[in-house]
Amino acid sequence: MDYKTYIANKLDIKELSTEEIREAIEIPPDLSLGDYAFPCFPLSKIFRMAPNKIAENLKDGFVTDDVIVECSAAGGYLNFKVDRKSRAESLLNTINREKDSYGSSDVGNGKTICIDYSSINIAKPFHIGHLSTTVIGSALCKILRFLGYKVVGINHLGDYGTQFGKLIVAFKNWSDEEKVKKDKLKELSRIYVKFHEEAKIHPELEDEARKYFTLIENGDEESNRLFELFKSITLSEVDKIYKLLKVTFDSYAGESFYNDKMGAVVEELKEKGLLTESDGASIVDLEEYGMPPCLILKSDGSSLYATRDLAAAIYRKNQYDFYKSLYVVAYQQDLHFKQVFKVLELMGKPWAKDLVHVSYGMVSLESGSMSTREGKVVLLEDVINKTVEKAYKVIEEKNPNLKDKEKTARAVGTGAVIFGALSNNKIKDIVFSYDRVLSFEGETCPYVQYTIARCNSVLNKVGNAKEFSLTEMCDSEYAVISSLSKFPDVVISAAEKYEPSFVTRYAIDLAKVFNKFYIDCKIAVEDENLKNFRLSIVSAVKITLTNALNLLGIETVEEM
Ligand code: ARG
Repeated sequence: MDYKTYIANKLDIKELSTEEIREAIEIPPDLSLGDYAFPCFPLSKIFRMAPNKIAENLKDGFVTDDVIVECSAAGGYLNFKVDRKSRAESLLNTINREKDSYGSSDVGNGKTICIDYSSINIAKPFHIGHLSTTVIGSALCKILRFLGYKVVGINHLGDYGTQFGKLIVAFKNWSDEEKVKKDKLKELSRIYVKFHEEAKIHPELEDEARKYFTLIENGDEESNRLFELFKSITLSEVDKIYKLLKVTFDSYAGESFYNDKMGAVVEELKEKGLLTESDGASIVDLEEYGMPPCLILKSDGSSLYATRDLAAAIYRKNQYDFYKSLYVVAYQQDLHFKQVFKVLELMGKPWAKDLVHVSYGMVSLESGSMSTREGKVVLLEDVINKTVEKAYKVIEEKNPNLKDKEKTARAVGTGAVIFGALSNNKIKDIVFSYDRVLSFEGETCPYVQYTIARCNSVLNKVGNAKEFSLTEMCDSEYAVISSLSKFPDVVISAAEKYEPSFVTRYAIDLAKVFNKFYIDCKIAVEDENLKNFRLSIVSAVKITLTNALNLLGIETVEEM
């Protein structure tokens, strides 16, 4: 039963569509006012009438029934009370029947969405700056799949550019295969830093690096062998982190994949009269749109980051025929994507409107930021390991007899990192704090995982929920029911706004009302009916919180 739709259908307002009415309906924070509310403020312009008066009028025309048992007007809102008992029964039955598919839907069936995320740079350390794109992108993949979309997760590898020439020079001068295979990214990063130090004194190294990059591009065997070595080392290293974070990709087509696909783009730009010359370089002038020009070819004829993104967008449209194509990339690249999207629009691609830059803020550690060139980086792996270690210590302290302490610490530690990165509106800059993400008291992952473990322990001790027929219900019980009912809508809005933090916020809210219920209501009561009703709440909460965490790529624990 979708109550919002039910109310929207009954509320006959000619000026608004049923969908618009449904969208506007809210769940009031104070449930004593009603279970649903329709705000009349936006209507006051249309009707030229005070919201209060509109609410009164709508109330007079509303006929209650055995689903919506009460309708009242207050403070510009039209409030509705539903038959709480039948609502609780049907919702709990639904959740306990649907289990891990509760909250899912088929709205996305038949539509494909490409998500470009994580998109790491080969031979560069996987640092904390990649955390957001990786976990936001991965959560969006899971959320959209849950809604029936076909999702293509793409790691648009940064595997093109003069830095690979630099690495080859550095490798030949200061390293060897054995060292690289042994210390992997640490070694690659060491020699990359060394290159920049040395190049300050010997600028001719830069020319040599350019020479090697051209050799890679021209298919020189030895240079490409080294390039592939750097690539495979990087991928096997980051794969460890992807496993920890439950992140997967459907494609690793990176920048170099478009080497042979850019020529056609440049031709098309020329044909359409979009390409102009500026100091020997080829550009698309975007002055008319208030943007600096989009650089397509350097004066030496080599391509740029934007050229490869143009080729990639076109390739993705041809290959996947996407409904939407998302780019989960930090806000530093806002202009880049605006330019690329605009150029595609000017090229007459009607699907340019379906490209979305999902922009997000920076993550830094409390101790300060970093730079790859100077080698001052905070590795994501170290952050995760340190969080897992700290989680282990907390468990040791709080529950030394726990069975699988290591496994639990891993789930809690990695979960804390993911949840921490997804806790705020994505565009905000965040400062990562170990203590904050691991706190059991705050609005954190351990708090949610602990709540699930608590549900588990109740179900183990008191038993599984059996059928019940409800006689009465208290406020704390109903608050949980109301919160449980919101989950499907939360998933939909998280997808619409590309905002996984809606799911983290929701998990916290549900955990809070559940824990209040747990304090207020004894579960192992004599009355079988009441006991089964309460057990059924516990089990529905466990299911819903687990589904929420799964959408974020976070593991749950049986015991904590
Ligand atoms: N590798 C790039 C970086 O680290 C991000 C690539 C994002 N995706 C894209 N299609 N441009 O800055």
